[in-house]
Amino acid sequence: MKGIVLAGGLGSRLRPLTQITNKHLLPVYNKPMVYYPLQMLVDAGITDIMLVTGGNSAGDFLRLIRNGEDFGLSRINYAYQTGEGGIAEALGLARDFVGNDRMVVVLGDNILQYGIKQAVATFAKQLSGAHILLKEVDHPQEYGIAEVEDQHIRRIIEKPKQPSSNLAVIGVYMYCADVFDIIATLTPSRRGELEITDVNNAYLQRGELTYDLVEGWWLDAGENHASLLRANLTVAREQGVEL
Ligand code: DAU
Repeated sequence: MKGIVLAGGLGSRLRPLTQITNKHLLPVYNKPMVYYPLQMLVDAGITDIMLVTGGNSAGDFLRLIRNGEDFGLSRINYAYQTGEGGIAEALGLARDFVGNDRMVVVLGDNILQYGIKQAVATFAKQLSGAHILLKEVDHPQEYGIAEVEDQHIRRIIEKPKQPSSNLAVIGVYMYCADVFDIIATLTPSRRGELEITDVNNAYLQRGELTYDLVEGWWLDAGENHASLLRANLTVAREQGVEL
């Protein structure tokens, strides 16, 4: 199983914090944000990892993460995303790295209280298709939202104006190698991005999308200034810091 951390994009919603650096290098309590998804992959037993980044600060990731020594690794693979063409575009850059293997993709700003070990074990038993994770949220307009009926996902809508559910598709996606063929068929959305929601809907249409509900808290730390602050406080409290 390969691991991919997506840490591209411009992070424009976090300006001016992201004026001179990449949002995934900003602190979440005592570590840079990108450490958390990397650590979740390693904790789930995945050690063959690619980090996709972009922008002007890409070199800083190498200086920070080097060969993955802080995570007990001896090697990390890097890819560079030119521009901000979307999550699915960033994932497409990992095609040669993944080959015919399966993969766990984690967005560089996502943190889960209990990590992803259990979900990865579930996916490892799945023969084909994709596996995603859902979590109830307070502001469904800000996420990809899954409409679930009789325990089946009916469809996923990216940032719906009038959400019909509060179940967000979080930024942890598990795919077989055929995801790259799906990405190759995508066209940019209205916001000019190749949408990961379109990828997940393609699996849904094939009847090959399974899901689990996330237990414990889930953080999308890089959503905006408030979510970055919330992530700092939540992670600090988790580590027993009194605030
Ligand atoms: O966090 C969960 C949400 O993430 C999902 O519910 C949504 O369906 C999904 O579209 C995504 O929404 P966001 O608006 O939070 O995506 P954002 O543009 O903030 O990108 C999330 C991460 O993806 C970011 O931390 C880095 C990576 N990324 C994003 C873009 C647009 C890239 O590597 N390259 C990109 O071009």
